[in-house]
Amino acid sequence: MLFLLSTLLFFTSFAASAPVLTISEEMEQIFQNLTTEAQEDYFQILFNDTVTLREMDHLLDQWAEKHGILDKWTAYSGKWETRKEKFHKTVLSVIENLPSAYRMMTEITSNRDQTINQVHEAVDQLKETYNMEVSMISFLSKMMVLNEEYIMNGGNVEIGNEVSQDLRRMRDYKKNRGLNALLVPGPLV
Ligand SMILES: *[C@@H]1O[C@H](CO)[C@@H](O)[C@H](O)[C@H]1NC(C)=O
Ligand SMILES: *[C@@H]1O[C@H](CO)[C@@H](O)[C@H](O)[C@H]1NC(C)=O
Repeated sequence: MLFLLSTLLFFTSFAASAPVLTISEEMEQIFQNLTTEAQEDYFQILFNDTVTLREMDHLLDQWAEKHGILDKWTAYSGKWETRKEKFHKTVLSVIENLPSAYRMMTEITSNRDQTINQVHEAVDQLKETYNMEVSMISFLSKMMVLNEEYIMNGGNVEIGNEVSQDLRRMRDYKKNRGLNALLVPGPLV
């Protein structure tokens, strides 16, 4: 399901200095030209929990054809596929590096013969090789600390407030079908 959610609301922009459209902006532009009914049809398909993902691809293609945007939709989907592959590959590589990066960070932070400045310097140095890993470990550590009791006693770790606005938007849409809440950017009410 996460993949589907991120199909719709994936915000990372292309690494380029010129203002290049992000995938989601592109999707938004395609969307703007559609009727509300066509937009609703889209989400009806996207949030249909009883079709296989392949059937969903097919239904979305049919949807695009019905609304005369098959070419734009195909181009969009193709770009998304490429991005998704690259994204998975990068994430997998970062995850594979996490254990060793975590050990290195722990080694740094448990050396009591350093000043705090030296700890920062050592972490910065580690970041030169493992930038993404260090960021991810910092993020995970925060979550782990917030869930210390669960970690120590076993049980489910709760992500709680870490859930992004976009995911909340999705959840609220599924609950009360407010298309506007889903499409209009800005803080949730
Ligand atoms: C939206 O419609 C306008 C006017 O017909 C058109 O110029 C524009 O290219 C369309 N944009 C997209 C993304 O379909
Ligand atoms: C999900 O898709 C199936 C097959 O197209 C359809 O029969 C069903 O009505 C859909 N469910 C919803 C909630 O749209």
